Amino acid sequence: MDKFLYLSRADVEATGVSMREVIDALEVAFREHGLGNAEMPPKPVIHTRPDAFIHAMPAYIPALRAAGLKWVSGYPSNQAKGLPYISGLLILNDDDTGLPLAVMDCTWITAKRTGAASALSARYLARPESSTVGILGCGVQGRSNLEALSVLFPVKQVFAYDRKPESAVHFAQEMRARFGVSVEVVDEPRQAVSGCDMVVTAGPILQVPHATIKAGWLDAGAFASLVDYDSFWDGAALQEVDKFCTDDVPQLEYYRSHGYFQSIPRIHASLGELVTGQKAGRESATERTIGCNLGLALDDMATAPLVYSRALDQGLGARLEL
Ligand SMILES: NC(=O)c1ccc[n+]([C@@H]2O[C@H](COP(=O)([O-])OP(=O)(O)OC[C@H]3O[C@@H](n4cnc5c(N)ncnc54)[C@H](O)[C@@H]3O)[C@@H](O)[C@H]2O)c1
Repeated sequence: MDKFLYLSRADVEATGVSMREVIDALEVAFREHGLGNAEMPPKPVIHTRPDAFIHAMPAYIPALRAAGLKWVSGYPSNQAKGLPYISGLLILNDDDTGLPLAVMDCTWITAKRTGAASALSARYLARPESSTVGILGCGVQGRSNLEALSVLFPVKQVFAYDRKPESAVHFAQEMRARFGVSVEVVDEPRQAVSGCDMVVTAGPILQVPHATIKAGWLDAGAFASLVDYDSFWDGAALQEVDKFCTDDVPQLEYYRSHGYFQSIPRIHASLGELVTGQKAGRESATERTIGCNLGLALDDMATAPLVYSRALDQGLGARLEL
């Protein structure tokens, strides 16, 4: 009888796949994407509550023999219930037979691959010596984005802002201990933008942006990663940016036709075009750059085989009958 491997969230975490490995896998995946060698239909979505979503995210990356689907939800109202914003499952298939190889919790993968995608964008769009980071929204993504940026950049000083000050305080304690960086909790969002080489916004995704970040806040030469789409950014602040990039232009256009991204500047390049060199990344020390990665099935399918093969090596998870 055919069996598949079930990996709980704890099993996935226990594999110990490193952030560096996830970044490297994403670089391969985005190169393939840029060359037109990956299959990724636009993600169907159902909207069960205002500002909530449940997405189906299939992809196939032949070079990584990675095929499968993530079924993931995002609920801004979960924080008040003590539940995670993001939750879901991922199915990894055998690309030869189509049989399911594994079903796994996707929380860890979603957290890590999103941070990894920001760092990959930053590799092409941030100044290599970038050492100060502003984090706005100190939750799961705030943590994984800082982790990933710390892998590729000499991060020394972090400014942390959260609508809930106690969340920023917990974040600061944890990040100091894990990465040995200096973390200052700030009261005003501008203190986590102005004076920073790299800025990450990771609050809730809202169809109508709260537009906290104003024109004149982002320094010349800075890079920003918009993990929560354009929710944090005033239109005039976005218009100051020299290069606005995204992981997938058609998907961004799709969101734009559904009411998001109404004030963004011209799109300069996709991440795949940056990785393959088809489009230039940063070209001067004074450009303001943005990577706005929507989060693609490609990211998940690049990461899932790493988790699966490490789980097999370590005998993790439960074998279940199909
Ligand atoms: N682009 C992607 O690929 C991708 C992937 C996963 C998650 N996300 C998005 O990232 C965002 C964060 O997800 P998460 O899992 O880290 O959630 P989380 O709940 O763990 O963290 C969100 C944090 O933002 C804070 N916050 C809320 N409103 C704020 C505001 N106005 N100003 C400052 N802080 C505010 C909350 O207090 C919380 O600490 C969500 O919008 C989610 O949809 C994007």
